[in-house]
Amino acid sequence: MNQLGEVATPLTLPSGLVLSNRLVKAAMAEQLAKNGQASSDLVRVYERWGQGGWGAIMTGNVMVDEKYMGSPQDTAIQNKSSAEIEKWHKIASGIKAQGALALMQINHPGRQSPAGAGSRGFLEKNVAPSAVPINFGESIVVKTIVKLLFGTPAEMSIIQVQTVINQFVDAAKFAQQTGFDGVTIHAAHGYLLSDFLSPKSNTRTDDYGGTPEKRARIIVEIIRAIREVVGATFSVSVKMNSSDQQHDAGSDAVLRQVDVLVAEGVDFLEISGGSYENPRMIGGDEAPAKSERTQKREAFFLDFALAVRERHPTLQLMLTGGFRTRAGMNSALISKGCDMIGVGRPAATVPDFPCSVVGIEAQKEVSDAEAGMQLEKIKEPWFLKHLPFPQLQRALAGGAETMYYGQKIRDMVKA
Ligand SMILES: Cc1cc2nc3c(=O)[nH]c(=O)nc-3n(C[C@H](O)[C@H](O)[C@H](O)COP(=O)(O)O)c2cc1C
Repeated sequence: MNQLGEVATPLTLPSGLVLSNRLVKAAMAEQLAKNGQASSDLVRVYERWGQGGWGAIMTGNVMVDEKYMGSPQDTAIQNKSSAEIEKWHKIASGIKAQGALALMQINHPGRQSPAGAGSRGFLEKNVAPSAVPINFGESIVVKTIVKLLFGTPAEMSIIQVQTVINQFVDAAKFAQQTGFDGVTIHAAHGYLLSDFLSPKSNTRTDDYGGTPEKRARIIVEIIRAIREVVGATFSVSVKMNSSDQQHDAGSDAVLRQVDVLVAEGVDFLEISGGSYENPRMIGGDEAPAKSERTQKREAFFLDFALAVRERHPTLQLMLTGGFRTRAGMNSALISKGCDMIGVGRPAATVPDFPCSVVGIEAQKEVSDAEAGMQLEKIKEPWFLKHLPFPQLQRALAGGAETMYYGQKIRDMVKA
């Protein structure tokens, strides 16, 4: 192995697909769509990432139902004209131009779809496993804001559960038809499927709730139904949270859910954390202040990944959140905490991060000391400091950080 270390080594997934190195551009919503339709700017952004030396590139979350979006500028897979299908073909081929795998992240935002995002009627409620609203704190003011922005979701009927399963299958078919190598099912960050996993947001007593395994059942059914139509060589993976979102359930319950998903033969499992209520995917394990240990190890969710590894020695694991240096990445790979390194904000800042920062395929050697980047501290809007609602404050700070890096993605179009 050369001085680049493990991060530069290829990886073969159970589907047979090969990553030329371990670096994966993580899913980041680009907000470059209108009414769910991709723009030519979106095509351009992926052309740029496609030139960056990544082992694999994940799209930002693509909505499976245009009625419910994470933001009004999200992409959705419905109502595709031939021009639109052509754009997605171009996105896939832009990603694959230098050999990166093209993975589409597919998502339903559930109760985290704000008013005005999606084509649902003004009075139509969001859908969720149970009628549990997002909780940003107990104050009346905060509860009123949540009510106006997200409302109290409606508990999904069994028919609605089946509809959502079918929508995920349609999204996977669309990804395959447009030249993607696989899909990754978003079951993290407080969106619909992660809310099914958590007993805080899933209080159902039917087949889709009540035990950790039953709470994972909708994802199991989605994986099975997708597999039936896409065949064995198409990658089907899942992004889920570490035990952070489910403190009530305990990490044993979350690990049992991992067992259930692994039994379905996922190509790999991506581990992240956080939700709108507590955006740890952005801030790390111990928000708001990170412990020295977390800072040193970079990876926010490494402990949980190691616990998963203990139960599933051969599972391909992707870990996302906090990676900034080649040394940190190699250390996580060597510890067996993961096989693939998910990179978010640095990829929005430096699209060719694998080449220009990590030193993959670089003309000259890049030393360990040079191979990394620190992200600038994002200035929070002034009023946040004065907000007397700590939970809402944390959520808005996470939102400001996401907006800042979202803009960096959109700035990629200009270069
Ligand atoms: C602008 C932006 C958009 C994001 N959109 C998504 C998304 O669509 N799907 C997802 O799973 N995670 C999303 N994330 C979270 C990232 O995938 C990742 O988990 C997070 O940024 C932590 O990784 P990092 O420390 O390398 O940035 C987003 C993050 C940012 C900054």
